Amino acid sequence: MDKKFDYESLFSKSSLEIEISKVSHAKYDFAVAYPPPETIPLNGLLEGLSEGLSKEGKDLAYYPDVMGALSLREFVCQKLQEDRGFFSDPDEIMITQGSAEANNLVIQALTDPGDTVITEEFVYLGTLRQLRRAKANVFGSKLDENGLIPEELENLIKKLIKKGKKIKYIYTIPEFQNPTGSTLPLERRVQILKIAEKYLIPLIEDDCYVDLRFEGKTQPSFKSLDSSGLVIHVASFSKLLAPGLRMGYVIADISVLKRMMSFKSSQSSQFVSLAIEGFLTKNMDNHKNKIREILKEKCNAMTTALGENFGGINAKWSNPGGGCYVWLTMPERINLTKLQGVCFDKGVGFIPGSSFSPEGLGDNCARLCFAYESPEKNRDGINLFGEILHQLNLI
Ligand SMILES: Cc1ncc(COP(=O)(O)O)c(C=O)c1O
Repeated sequence: MDKKFDYESLFSKSSLEIEISKVSHAKYDFAVAYPPPETIPLNGLLEGLSEGLSKEGKDLAYYPDVMGALSLREFVCQKLQEDRGFFSDPDEIMITQGSAEANNLVIQALTDPGDTVITEEFVYLGTLRQLRRAKANVFGSKLDENGLIPEELENLIKKLIKKGKKIKYIYTIPEFQNPTGSTLPLERRVQILKIAEKYLIPLIEDDCYVDLRFEGKTQPSFKSLDSSGLVIHVASFSKLLAPGLRMGYVIADISVLKRMMSFKSSQSSQFVSLAIEGFLTKNMDNHKNKIREILKEKCNAMTTALGENFGGINAKWSNPGGGCYVWLTMPERINLTKLQGVCFDKGVGFIPGSSFSPEGLGDNCARLCFAYESPEKNRDGINLFGEILHQLNLI
């Protein structure tokens, strides 16, 4: 055959052409969503793996359980009971390839094109993309420094119902929200759950950042407050250990899990499960304490530098007690969407607020990840950011 085969006429109607982009990093990379790379417990994971292999290694001869390795599911049950205050049965847990897969499976199981979904007004980009691929109509509900505002959420629900829309579900990140870093207080969780019950709208709780608290008290999970079965709980080992492990989990009603299963293309790795369970069974508390100290120092370095550079210009930034992100709000005249490329070329990477908004709002905002770079680089990078804006006569 002289000519290369052309697939164009064969692509399925549901397939989309997705750009396969190479990740490029700015000198000061605040655009990423990574936990501190120096906290990855390489030796601990190796030890955990080695122990796991000597006990259960022969089982690798079989294809793993479709719900994920039973011993990891049992471990997750225990973690959820201790850390998140609810009891779950291993049969209600599906181990997934990161929480991204968990979210995607829930979205696929629950969403038809044109369905109405509510998220926070700024929401994790990965989920926003998944919702768009599922052709959902996404509406953002107002946030303040304490996360979703229950009254605003109810107003939005009423408005949508009045327009004849049926709201399929609410997706929310209650602890150290990505991108704004906010954490919902208990009272708001109770109020939001009441709203979900009143209008019978399921709530997907993405608890991806819960292990990364360095100040204050962890708030009870939505799932622990729920007696109606409306809450689907999603979490991950990516932020506690490493994204490269690709391991997360979801707790949902068995009827939902069965539908999710119809979109799961393969089982999650039993090999990785052995390493995670082996390591965390013995080292969870030490490991969490180590991450917390490091995150606190990095966050302080960034917020101090923000104060020094942007303290006098009417800018605002969040002061999270954990997680990975600071949310920066500049005066309206500073368009960070437009400035993203210029800043990147000069060495400062960030993601503008508009990327996280279903409606494309938030040009004057940005998400800054404080977790990845060192405290010194957090300080120097924010200083450079200030210098760039100064050179452009914006501050
Ligand atoms: C809120 C939230 N959910 C899910 C994910 C996906 O993470 P993973 O698939 O690595 O668990 C991320 C990643 O940054 C996130 O911020």
